[in-house]
Amino acid sequence: MSELVAKPIGANIPPEISDRLERLELLYTLSLDIFGARNIDELLTVVMSRVTKAMKADRSTLFIVDQERRVIWSKVAQGTEPFTVPMGRGISGYVAQTGETLNIPDAYQDERFNPEVDRRTGYKTNSILCMPVKDREGVVIAVIQAINKLDGIFSEQDEDFLRALSAQIQLAIENSTLYQDLKSLFESMMEAMASTIDARHPTTAGHTMRVRAYSLAIAAEMGYSEEDLEILNYAALLHDYGKIGVRESILTKPGRLTDEEYSEMKQHVVYTMDILNKIRFAPRFREIPDIAGHHHERVDGRGYPDGLTGDQMHPLSRVMAVADVFDALTSVRDYRSPLDPNEVLEMMKKDIGTHFDEDCMLALERYFMRTNLGDQIRERNRIEIEERLKNDPNAPKLIETF
Ligand SMILES: [Fe+2]
Ligand SMILES: [Fe+2]
Repeated sequence: MSELVAKPIGANIPPEISDRLERLELLYTLSLDIFGARNIDELLTVVMSRVTKAMKADRSTLFIVDQERRVIWSKVAQGTEPFTVPMGRGISGYVAQTGETLNIPDAYQDERFNPEVDRRTGYKTNSILCMPVKDREGVVIAVIQAINKLDGIFSEQDEDFLRALSAQIQLAIENSTLYQDLKSLFESMMEAMASTIDARHPTTAGHTMRVRAYSLAIAAEMGYSEEDLEILNYAALLHDYGKIGVRESILTKPGRLTDEEYSEMKQHVVYTMDILNKIRFAPRFREIPDIAGHHHERVDGRGYPDGLTGDQMHPLSRVMAVADVFDALTSVRDYRSPLDPNEVLEMMKKDIGTHFDEDCMLALERYFMRTNLGDQIRERNRIEIEERLKNDPNAPKLIETF
């Protein structure tokens, strides 16, 4: 009869085994966390809280080794404020310096123990398990320390488990630095590409960087997420990249373009898309060519190259369309003086619903008012025109209408 009574699964598993199962499960979830994570800070915080639990410790700390300054600093510290420890000092400093693992049943009996933190925080350290995290070359990059085993002292199994964890943590740290390296490589390449355009087109130098700044300001004003801002950042940097395919004589022609020249100039957005489509962007950046290539579209569908309407345009293209025209009209060009920024704003507002998206335009206006953008632009243009007067005898003509 008793055999018919349902027992909870695992009820017969001895505690050592269920402990092991629990730990295996933790290792498995950790590896999932690590591969899914992009933000190392959050990840390490989660990892360390799991370490504490799985080790049945009271608290644990993850130190990162700063080889240059010869200190270790508490990247994740439970129960205390972040702090640094000189290399070689205390248990964690000793482990960082020697690369040895220390399993100490009673900290106060160990002469390497530094009771300073206890004194400062009123905590009482008893048992410590402290282990290095090494990179592929065997250099200590971090130190994990578990403090005060809840039921006695840290065992050999605890050591084994922490060793497995430290391998995971090493992966997490290395992944994140790799990711950071890749990210800065990508960023610097995008910036280098953008600067080739400004270099080829000296009369509109600085345009790319200003369009980026205005686009980001408008989008932030509209409440776009960090991720969208990152996408927009690159799209704006590359928006005129296709000018690389436009003939020099047209690109640098002072004065107005003929119809034929103008249609060649318009091709730059097609080139932008063609070129950017050849870059193998990470999935979240896949829309960059589309966003960048449609900054000359208008919400009434009369823009180029595809005649998209506002609804068909990517929302971030609508942002860039505003930023692009605003900069073109407010900056110094060879064939004309810049217009007054306040007037430009009023002019552009008249084109809401035809050329520009209303929300984007109003966001620009709010940003403009709040940051005194008009004054900043006037001052920048004054300096630029002064520079030109110094270098170019024909420049005085420019200032007459300014
Ligand atoms: Fe353009
Ligand atoms: Fe542009």
